[in-house]
Amino acid sequence: MQRKSRTAEIILSALPYIRKFKDKVFVIKYGGSAQIDEELKNDFARDIVLLSMVGIKVIVVHGGGKKINEYLERLNIKSEFKDGLRVTNKDAIDTVEMVLSGLINKEITALLFKHGTKAVGLSGKDSELLQATVLGGGKYGFVGEIHSVNIELLNSLMNQEYIPVIAPIGVGLEGESYNINADLCASAVAKALKADKVIFLTDTSGVLDKNSELISKLDENLINELKQNGTISGGMIPKVDACLECVKAGVKNAHIIDGRISHSILLEIFTDSGIGSIIKGQI
Ligand SMILES: Nc1ncnc2c1ncn2[C@@H]1O[C@H](COP(=O)(O)OP(=O)(O)OP(=O)(O)O)[C@@H](O)[C@H]1O
Ligand SMILES: [Mg+2]
Repeated sequence: MQRKSRTAEIILSALPYIRKFKDKVFVIKYGGSAQIDEELKNDFARDIVLLSMVGIKVIVVHGGGKKINEYLERLNIKSEFKDGLRVTNKDAIDTVEMVLSGLINKEITALLFKHGTKAVGLSGKDSELLQATVLGGGKYGFVGEIHSVNIELLNSLMNQEYIPVIAPIGVGLEGESYNINADLCASAVAKALKADKVIFLTDTSGVLDKNSELISKLDENLINELKQNGTISGGMIPKVDACLECVKAGVKNAHIIDGRISHSILLEIFTDSGIGSIIKGQI
């Protein structure tokens, strides 16, 4: 009996958050590095279904770094990272698009459906969801930056209770494909939709300091300092940049959390202390 009361207490402790977040838009970036094993993937899908069932409008943007590496290696295509971004040549962009849009996108979409919610997998090429141009004058090859997001498409799917699942492939003026860093894709989508929250699931407990301790709360000054002294490096650079872009554009909070922990999304959203790093907006 006591255990049952405790369960009821736990469920009720989420009530204020459920009330607060009803009808709000959350963009959730599901990092390739957090797509680890079947159990975690299923737990992720169940968390997303739960958010959706309590009235949160969820959009999933996914990465796929690990799987892309695996396929590039199999096909003997070289790729390197510069400023935390994958330099993407012509051979690599075809593989990146196939893995993101064909493999990972459909796996996540099918998993969400299996766990009880309607979901539609998209890339930036569907109804020009993500219009892009080449980034940095082409110094990263076919890496693009997003100029416009087709929010009409996203809103109409969400209004019909579909969860959009987005592969970060942008489309150029001539219909060419661009590899978009998934963190920056999530921030473009969150900004365009004026989302309430953007949440990044990755393979660390959040942003770590030089002693590898979690930093629970960050702001622009601290982020700049940590980037300058090299504490924030590699794939964490576009992630913190994406967080800053979002909060400056009016997204209320940006979170970086550990996707290796089951139900980390629920722990971050529905508990007072949360479990990862948070970058708060001004308002
Ligand atoms: N200060 C830091 N704190 C935490 N992680 C850091 C830091 N600096 C660099 N990193 C690196 O950033 C990585 C996370 O970014 P990464 O791009 O590898 O994953 P992801 O974005 O979740 O996945 P994907 O790029 O496939 O979507 C960590 O595994 C870690 O190695
Ligand atoms: Mg990354």
